[in-house]
Amino acid sequence: MTLTIGVDVGGTKVAGGVVDDAGVVLAQTRRETPADDAAKTRDVIIEVVTELAAGREIEAVGIGAAGWIDATRSTVLFAPNLAWRDEPLRDHVRSAVELPVIVENDANVAAWAEFRYGAARHADDSMVMFTIGTGVGGGIVLGGELVRGSHGVAAELGHMLAVPDGHRCGCGRLGCIEQYASGSALVRFARAGARQEPRRASGLLELGGGDVDAITGPMVTAAAKAGDQVSIEAFAQLGRWLGIGLADLAQILDPQVLVVGGGVVDAGDLLLGPTTRSFMDSLAQRGRIPVAEVRPAELGNSAGVIGAADLARRR
Ligand code: BGC
Ligand code: NA
Ligand code: ZN
Repeated sequence: MTLTIGVDVGGTKVAGGVVDDAGVVLAQTRRETPADDAAKTRDVIIEVVTELAAGREIEAVGIGAAGWIDATRSTVLFAPNLAWRDEPLRDHVRSAVELPVIVENDANVAAWAEFRYGAARHADDSMVMFTIGTGVGGGIVLGGELVRGSHGVAAELGHMLAVPDGHRCGCGRLGCIEQYASGSALVRFARAGARQEPRRASGLLELGGGDVDAITGPMVTAAAKAGDQVSIEAFAQLGRWLGIGLADLAQILDPQVLVVGGGVVDAGDLLLGPTTRSFMDSLAQRGRIPVAEVRPAELGNSAGVIGAADLARRR
């Protein structure tokens, strides 16, 4: 049995795990991301790999990072929600840990994990995934392979246009779907609702200690589950945008399965219901053509670690 290490670098945490060839995480560790400092983030990754590799025979390391990665899977070209700009991450980590390293987009690795071991494991050879977090990520598997594009930067699904001249995105453009379908958007919708109609947001406001600006994503999920109207509507808005995005992808790629992942899927049908309705409403030909199945992700927080480790194994 060979072991590889997967590291998932997000806007808030760096998670690492030792993974076997059946996709099972045997050991794991995590640190906070020093998100505004590129060099420190790189050092934290090295620390995580060093800790996990100690006393083990490790074959390779895969790193999933939230940004545009070059075609050789070595450099983070740009990360809208992290400090990396042209960061030669692979070489830095490789020389520090003395193991083969690949760098891949964080949503690509999560999609790969769901395809191999999670919500799309029954799919023959195609799936598309949206990851909903600080940003909106995307991953596409076609013909049983991750679609990386000619320059390595395919499947940046969060930066599809949703609203012309809409909210400014971290990528610099106005109106990307990331600004309407991310965890950050969910919080924005909920805060706006709580400001406008505090009486319909009493459950949510209570969780936030009465302070609209203290409302967080997990609070919106908890309040929605407890019946808070404004929180339920915030999920409905998120789902509406997600469904529209998924329908565009179904029109372009016709995958077997569409997967939605990220902490927001904890809301269950409060998110999946509006998402599926919006998806179906957005397909004018529905009822006449076969459509992809929409499913929640199954691997939760471990998807990034498992996918990165598996891709390192197949490097
Ligand atoms: C970035 C993607 C990343 C996604 C999720 C987006 O803003 O452009 O590269 O996959 O956030 O982290
Ligand atoms: Na991607
Ligand atoms: Zn954008």
